Amino acid sequence: MKSVKNVVIKNRKIILNTELNVSLGEDGKVSDDTRLQAGAETINYVMEQEPKMLLLVGHLGRPKGVIVPELSTEILVKYLEKILNKRVIFVDKLERLQAIIQAEVFDSEAVYLLENIRFWGSEEGNSEEFGRELGGMFQVYINDNFSTSHREHASFVQVPKFIKEVVAGLLLEKEYGNLSVILNKPKKPAIAIIGGSKIATKLPVIENLAKKYDKVLVGGMVANEAIDEKIKFDKNVILPIDFSPAEKSNERLDIGPLTVAIFKTEILKAKSIVWNGPLGKFEDDEASNGTRNIVKAIEDSNAFSLIGGGETLLAIKMFGDIKNYNYISQSGGAMLEFLAGKKLPGVEAIK
Ligand code: 3PG
Repeated sequence: MKSVKNVVIKNRKIILNTELNVSLGEDGKVSDDTRLQAGAETINYVMEQEPKMLLLVGHLGRPKGVIVPELSTEILVKYLEKILNKRVIFVDKLERLQAIIQAEVFDSEAVYLLENIRFWGSEEGNSEEFGRELGGMFQVYINDNFSTSHREHASFVQVPKFIKEVVAGLLLEKEYGNLSVILNKPKKPAIAIIGGSKIATKLPVIENLAKKYDKVLVGGMVANEAIDEKIKFDKNVILPIDFSPAEKSNERLDIGPLTVAIFKTEILKAKSIVWNGPLGKFEDDEASNGTRNIVKAIEDSNAFSLIGGGETLLAIKMFGDIKNYNYISQSGGAMLEFLAGKKLPGVEAIK
């Protein structure tokens, strides 16, 4: 994978696939701009190299090929302008983009931002024609959007086909680098903690990590579903043996004190920890003890810790301090697919 640092940017037209999929509050405003902040390093680096034009491309939400005004990337303009300290020019249509490029009149101090790429059905339809139309206008393609790289969509796999220079952005390099090391060369003992919901997504992760890690600790809804479905795991996968609160243990809202003790012992022995998903219904006080204790144990351990997923981050914000973790992945689904050992189409396309 070639780095953005090893390609000529100066005086060229650059298309940058970047993290725009931020959380929006009920008022429609951005409620968490972490991903925009995380993507700024590559944008700033590219702008310092004086490109002819830099176009940002990405998605916001799941509009499914139709125009949903509340999901227009135009709402991100003011946030990006503040983060980048630059003018951001919003481009709503491909025709307008073509007109700008044909006229060869660019504002070299500004960053251009394309409308939500998922307003075009061709994005999720993975249309080659769309890839040719968009990619054909640029000389360098940068993928800095690891968190969506598990989607086989046109802006990830078709656009780069039509551009000569195809490279990785700085955030993607960090995500891919950290996840590759923790997956393939973790310091031992290595443990994984997998919680949250969606057994279908997490089962391949548990199975793959069980082959490489010393222990895989499973809690939350995933553990409940695995118990109900009587799934057979390797011996080093540890499921809860008791539940909390005791008077409602049949509801299995949280891991119980014996399970907490077993998990804590493993965490304190570990040299690498990867964590995705809370261990119970942590937002309810009565079912928060398991997740709270796991946060505390990881923060007390000397292990290299890598965490990811929105709920995991929320739990850390509630019970701990994000600064105590070595790497915080920006990705949820893509991180899980990667840990499950799958190849990510968006990453393969830039190799
Ligand atoms: C994410 O938020 O995990 C990524 O941006 C992917 O979004 P998606 O699940 O809508 O494809």
